[in-house]
Amino acid sequence: MPRLNPLLDQLAEYPMVELERRKRAVAARGLPLYDFSVGDPVEPTPLFIRQALKDGVKPRCGYPSIAGTPGLRGAIADYLGRRFDVEVNPDTQILPTAGAKEAVFHTPLLVIDPAAEDKAVVFPDPGYPAYQRGVLFAGGEAVAVPLSGDHIFRPWLLPAELLRRTRMIWLNTPHNPSGAVTDLDDLRRAVDVAQRYDIVLVCDEAYADIYHDAPPPSLLQAGTQGVLVLHSLSKRSGMTGYRSGFLAGDPALIARLRRLRSNPGLASPDFVNAAAQAAWSDDGHVVQRRDLFRAKRQALLDFFDQIGIDVHLSQATIYLWVRVPAGFDDESWAAALLDHGVVVSPGRMFGVNGAGRGYVRLALVPSLDDVRAAITVLRGVLG
Ligand SMILES: Cc1ncc(COP(=O)(O)O)c(C=O)c1O
Repeated sequence: MPRLNPLLDQLAEYPMVELERRKRAVAARGLPLYDFSVGDPVEPTPLFIRQALKDGVKPRCGYPSIAGTPGLRGAIADYLGRRFDVEVNPDTQILPTAGAKEAVFHTPLLVIDPAAEDKAVVFPDPGYPAYQRGVLFAGGEAVAVPLSGDHIFRPWLLPAELLRRTRMIWLNTPHNPSGAVTDLDDLRRAVDVAQRYDIVLVCDEAYADIYHDAPPPSLLQAGTQGVLVLHSLSKRSGMTGYRSGFLAGDPALIARLRRLRSNPGLASPDFVNAAAQAAWSDDGHVVQRRDLFRAKRQALLDFFDQIGIDVHLSQATIYLWVRVPAGFDDESWAAALLDHGVVVSPGRMFGVNGAGRGYVRLALVPSLDDVRAAITVLRGVLG
């Protein structure tokens, strides 16, 4: 038997696997499925972005640069200026990535020395599962910090002993799965504590443009020294399949990341970069997408309100974080809804140490018509 990395077995059993099996069983009964589980919205990618991709396919597409194209970096810098009023040097402070997920997974390699005593990376729990996985595969100490009711991660409240052995902190605002938004004062406190302890502070802002009230701030507005932000076109521009995002922030860290990422050759193809440049240069399509998510969200909020089910936080992102009613836990409620064709994610799928159990997550990914049809089904079951 070949000797393999034991992490592959330890981490492989994703609750999603079981969910997929149950989904297939329900579909086999001929029931229509309304799938609110995976965060991959059905809406098409805007035509002008698809066209930019096609136009980007040249007679010869050579190896892309790790640094991306100057045009893409310029478009990202302009976007950051428009959206957050921050000035970022496109040549030294921006690094395109092949989506946000690989960057979440690989960025711990920037700080972790597996032989060192201090190799902790801390992240919010519940949270996006790749934070933990990236740290473990890099040989670091993964520290999941439980979030309280408001789901705001406050690293300045962590014990000094943990902060001393921490090399990197992940923030995530707007937060998956809860939709909680961290305000600028709290982001400043996070920068302050990270700088005091020489910790790299990275904020995953993949949902920065999917909000329902005030636009969420960026960590870049709180400072750049020791700071990185991570953005994605997946949800903002309906480009999950393109794999495109970026890291931005401290020029010294961006330079090291560029060197690090040249080892595996992590770079998006230039035709994807061309599509990404078009997407970051336009805000109109984002307004339309936001309106659509808002309409889906409102339909579900009204329904849950009518039947007395509490939707917690959910101020931004494409998710609703719904409290499980009495008599169920997250898995049994998800299973009960699935029996009627409505697929939701049990909250524990996003937790490391049991976090998330009191909730299920609904991703606003079916079409508005399907959301309405699902509400009719849910009314029959719950109402
Ligand atoms: C918080 C968060 N970060 C990162 C990602 C990864 O996004 P991408 O599609 O750009 O890899 C996701 C995807 O759902 C996410 O929820």
